[in-house]
Amino acid sequence: MCKKDIDYILNCPVKNAAYPVFSREEAENAMRFHSGIPGYEPTPLAHLGRLAKVWGLDDIYVKDESYRFGLNAFKVLGGSYAVANILCERLGKKLTDIDFSYLVSAEVREQLGDMTFITATDGNHGRGIAWAAEKLKQNAVVYMPKGSAAARVKSIESHGATVHVTDLNYDDAVRLANDEADKNGWFMIQDTSWEGYEKIPNWIMQGYMTMVLEAFQEMATVKPTHIFIQAGVGALAGAVQGLLVEYYGDDAPVVVVVEPRKAACLYRSAEAGDGQPHAVTGDLETIMAGLACGEPNPIGWDILKQSASCFVSVEDYLAANGMRILSCPVLGDDRIIAGESGPIGIGVLDLIMNDAEYQELKEALKLNSDSTVLMFNTEGNTDPVNFREIVWYGKYLKPKP
Ligand SMILES: Cc1ncc(COP(=O)(O)O)c(C=O)c1O
Repeated sequence: MCKKDIDYILNCPVKNAAYPVFSREEAENAMRFHSGIPGYEPTPLAHLGRLAKVWGLDDIYVKDESYRFGLNAFKVLGGSYAVANILCERLGKKLTDIDFSYLVSAEVREQLGDMTFITATDGNHGRGIAWAAEKLKQNAVVYMPKGSAAARVKSIESHGATVHVTDLNYDDAVRLANDEADKNGWFMIQDTSWEGYEKIPNWIMQGYMTMVLEAFQEMATVKPTHIFIQAGVGALAGAVQGLLVEYYGDDAPVVVVVEPRKAACLYRSAEAGDGQPHAVTGDLETIMAGLACGEPNPIGWDILKQSASCFVSVEDYLAANGMRILSCPVLGDDRIIAGESGPIGIGVLDLIMNDAEYQELKEALKLNSDSTVLMFNTEGNTDPVNFREIVWYGKYLKPKP
């Protein structure tokens, strides 16, 4: 359905889907590994119960990844888990038999010698790889798309990585990094997959499940009826969807996948209706830099096309609204500092619950006073200059008709 602010496609999830790579046991393995990293703490689950009532819902929870390891985003969970698995493979060990302190030991460093990890990123994933390489006393090389924010470049460099800001979009920067990896014998650690490159993205997606499992555990007996999850390539959304199928079984929540309009490759793939992933090309221009990806991750897409309930492509101002809503909560609710890619679920939920034009979608998704919505604020203010422009000075308001 094509509308002014958002486009959406409803999908009918298949019954009895199973995703063994994203099982509860795999999530527990990832969580066990992450919990051994010094400084690990589950990130908070913010509660917006009063906002929920204002919007006619039962409850809203937001998992706040701005607290993740002091890195301001969830992404490190994936990169660190992939890097750890690579090291274990080289060491001939099982990850379940070792812990983080062993991987960073002088003995392991000596055994492995010099290694270089390379990746392309719009910010958060690269910071995670740089952070992991720094901890392991190894090297990281990071390629970024054109227009990358200075603060995001700096935060990656602060972990000792070499950063190249290219004049390419995200997907072309990935190809360039992959060529460099082949040329130099470096380890390509990418959060998307292609034919012949699946093992590492699978590990990355498994690493994300620590965040999802934490959220489900923090909710304890409260079961979400709806999950809004934002997508770039769809690795995160695939991991969320994959785990909840097993975790909640027949009672699995409705999953709504949200993307920026100019980079809505999963929406485009759902629209094509042939089951294949379809790319969006061009500049992928959006304020949601972490979601500015034009080519779906085929692993994520295969899960989402079977099990997600709705694909939504949205205008940028809704992300800015989400940032404003979270940073200025209803009295008594928790406050959340969200970067541009973190709060789009809230921006979209506001529209669906409060704009009569979206009544049909609200009803189709069964969003009502019995609904408990879970979202993931996947980043804090990773571009503080833009954060203030948006939250303090009202940049990116809804365009006047
Ligand atoms: C903050 C943030 N949220 C969400 C995503 C989306 O993840 P994915 O590309 O796996 O869809 C990203 C990706 O970089 C991100 O940085």
